[in-house]
Amino acid sequence: MARIIDHALASKSAPGCAPVSVLGATGAAAARGLAWDAAVEAETRGLYEKVAHVVTPAEWRLHAPLIAAINRLKRQKGAVILAHNYMTAEIFHCVGDFRGDSLQLAREAARTDAPVIVQAGVHFMAETSKILSPDKTVLIPDMRAGCSLAASITGADVRLIRQRHPGIPIVTYVNTSADVKAESDICCTSSNAVQVVETITREWGVDTCIMLPDEYLARNVAAQTGVRVIAWHGKCEVHERFSAEDIAELRAAHPGVVVLAHPECPPEVVQAADFSGSTAALQTWVGDHRPARVVLLTECSMSDNVAAGHDDVEFVRPCNLCPHMKRITLEAIHDALVHGRHEVIVPEDIRVPAKRAIDAMLALPPAAPGRFDPARPVPADLEVIGP
Ligand code: 13P
Ligand code: SF4
Repeated sequence: MARIIDHALASKSAPGCAPVSVLGATGAAAARGLAWDAAVEAETRGLYEKVAHVVTPAEWRLHAPLIAAINRLKRQKGAVILAHNYMTAEIFHCVGDFRGDSLQLAREAARTDAPVIVQAGVHFMAETSKILSPDKTVLIPDMRAGCSLAASITGADVRLIRQRHPGIPIVTYVNTSADVKAESDICCTSSNAVQVVETITREWGVDTCIMLPDEYLARNVAAQTGVRVIAWHGKCEVHERFSAEDIAELRAAHPGVVVLAHPECPPEVVQAADFSGSTAALQTWVGDHRPARVVLLTECSMSDNVAAGHDDVEFVRPCNLCPHMKRITLEAIHDALVHGRHEVIVPEDIRVPAKRAIDAMLALPPAAPGRFDPARPVPADLEVIGP
């Protein structure tokens, strides 16, 4: 395996990438006047059971004081934590109130009555929450939690694209900044991208759409639909690292392993996988099929989180962390609640048109999570635009 560290020798009960979160936790609780004691132990015992498959008792003594404090602070401040599937297990299972993929978290942000939302995810997700809930305080625990896809395009780029391609709808992946959404006709996530592309082109009476900014997601969508897709050249720095060669090596090293891939992976990876879908679709697939041995080609905390409910499934864990998601730690969430930081603000002249694009997506009838049939080829003539 060329570039991806294989943690596959870890058994199903061993931690995937837990050491990363432990480094962050060392001394963090003490620095905040919090300590492991009998009261914390009793208060958090039930939570530990949810993560004992990936968090050792020694690690738990570092995490538990922060977890207990965060859960108390949430009650005091009327806050909810929206936790993306890529959060580390102790965040995802022990302080997250709503958990899921981008689409599920966007729906929760629109629905919740809580006055404060803490986004345990990356900045574009917090912006989405603010766009949908302007009267609520939306906090991102670390302002540096960005995304290589969101950074690949600006609102000015989208205005130029529209000038050059008049009459063609612009579909924007939610992994974008608010000003990019504001210039778009409709948003999509990896859960509903095919449905969105087919709906918007039907409504506009055209056979082509522009899909921004993830080139690989656009290619993978184009393979599943008769709609002609024009792509932008953005890439997810995490998923672009997987290769078809990695899959061949995983299959050789772990006979019988079922390979599931996120559609931000290159098309040759999706085509070599057994199934591809959004983070929620991958989770559902594991629950429905209960494979004896599986590998999720996506951010590696996801395996720890899905493994929680599946003792009978062995997870092979190639380590591929998203550095942006990993900026969200227990201590950063704790400090966000204590200090009310970092508040996400979206100016009204951007928020209103951005909300229109998100609402257009949320108004679509709920459909089964997007499935990407690996057997279908990407059109050879797909156009990719960009500077
Ligand atoms: P999902 O929409 O599948 O949750 O993915 C979001 C993301 O950032 C994947 O890298
Ligand atoms: Fe962005 Fe990729 Fe990280 Fe998801 S995994 S937040 S797409 S950089």
